[in-house]
Amino acid sequence: MTQNLEVDFTDPDFQANPHPAYAQWRRTGPVRRTRLPSGLTVWLVTRYDDARRALADPRLSKQSAFAIGSSTAANPVPNSPANPAPEPAANRPPSPAAVLSRHMLATDPPDHTRLRRLVSAAFTARRIEALRPRIEQITDELLDALAGRESADLIDTFAFPLPIQVICELLGVPAADRDAFRAWSNVIVAGSQSGDQLEPAIRAMVGYILAQIAERRADPGEDLLSGLIQVRDERDRLTEAELSSMVFLLLIAGHETTVNLIGNGTWLLLREREQWERLRADRALLPTAIEEFLRYEGPVETSTFRVATEDLEIGGVTVRAGDPVVIVLLSANRDDNRFPEADELRLDRSQNPHLAFGHGIHYCLGAPLARLEAQIAFGRLMDRHPGLRLAVEPELVRWRPGMLLRGLHELPVLL
Ligand code: HEM
Repeated sequence: MTQNLEVDFTDPDFQANPHPAYAQWRRTGPVRRTRLPSGLTVWLVTRYDDARRALADPRLSKQSAFAIGSSTAANPVPNSPANPAPEPAANRPPSPAAVLSRHMLATDPPDHTRLRRLVSAAFTARRIEALRPRIEQITDELLDALAGRESADLIDTFAFPLPIQVICELLGVPAADRDAFRAWSNVIVAGSQSGDQLEPAIRAMVGYILAQIAERRADPGEDLLSGLIQVRDERDRLTEAELSSMVFLLLIAGHETTVNLIGNGTWLLLREREQWERLRADRALLPTAIEEFLRYEGPVETSTFRVATEDLEIGGVTVRAGDPVVIVLLSANRDDNRFPEADELRLDRSQNPHLAFGHGIHYCLGAPLARLEAQIAFGRLMDRHPGLRLAVEPELVRWRPGMLLRGLHELPVLL
């Protein structure tokens, strides 16, 4: 099947509820050739089984995806216009293109294996669990700041600052800069849709990251960034460009994802208030409820780009060497061939092998952190604001445009 269909992921009507379109695609052309607003033609993979296989297929390369020069919203960062940026000469700062393209999500093994191993110890379930008291404290401080208010935008005041504060502290960069960082990050993730804003945002972001590295190098601490600088300087297992690119990826991942888990999950609970009351009354449901938010309205709508390194077949369709492929995670997670009553939000769904964190070697490194933050956030929010309500009709909330992420612009609530 080789439809050349146009899909406008920037269309607010599409983003308001993309699920009916995805359901139709799964039925009528589950692997479809699609032209994106950027002009790039990609294969979209929409069924669960095909999606899971594609995510783990070594013939779908990440490194090559960064060489095709697609600066679109499906990549977390715009690619360099030609091939991945060359390593700068020793003692020269890495170019912006190198900072954007030398991280683990833009590499294949063996580079991917080496880069991921350098930080994986900091993200194990045990190490993340040790952060619990501090995450609880940050959560309480954010909720304290809302005390006495009647209404608020829950994205701005809670869902956004919580994960940022956590990732900034983990890395060892000041969270005070988070608003500037958020602005650059939003522009960069939207890719070519950001037009003239893109280059200045990239320059500002890269300048910020390089300055943070210089500062930590001069005055090391106990944080992850200081550890990475040591790996770079003393053991030489990381280039300067890879070091800055790692920081870039972790900060972007920390800024753009968990906010949507908290935002989308709260919206789902308040949209059908009996779900909110049910979870409040039975906190034992929290772990399965969080997995269900991830499945039902996951924070990441599509995978990042992959490129076929040889001709291959996905769901009966031939994909040619060089073709870009994007896996629609949001669609795979509503596939009723995999999930009974897939369009129903079931807080106690016990079999839930969703793909919200991806699958295969690029499976989300931050999943244990995101899950812990969500558990604390939802638990504390229900304790402190049992009467929380939406301040607008559920369907009037605005979703952020773009292909990669699924999240709300704002979530107006009555406290
Ligand atoms: C609910 C929140 C989150 C969701 C839904 C999510 C989702 C994902 C997905 C789908 C991928 C794979 C993309 C692909 O294969 O194209 C991924 C990769 C990744 N995520 Fe997350 N993420 C979340 C939070 C985080 C956090 C908090 C961090 C850490 C700071 C993080 C760090 C990463 C990294 C480093 C990768 C690349 C892994 C690799 O290439 O081996 N994520 N994430």
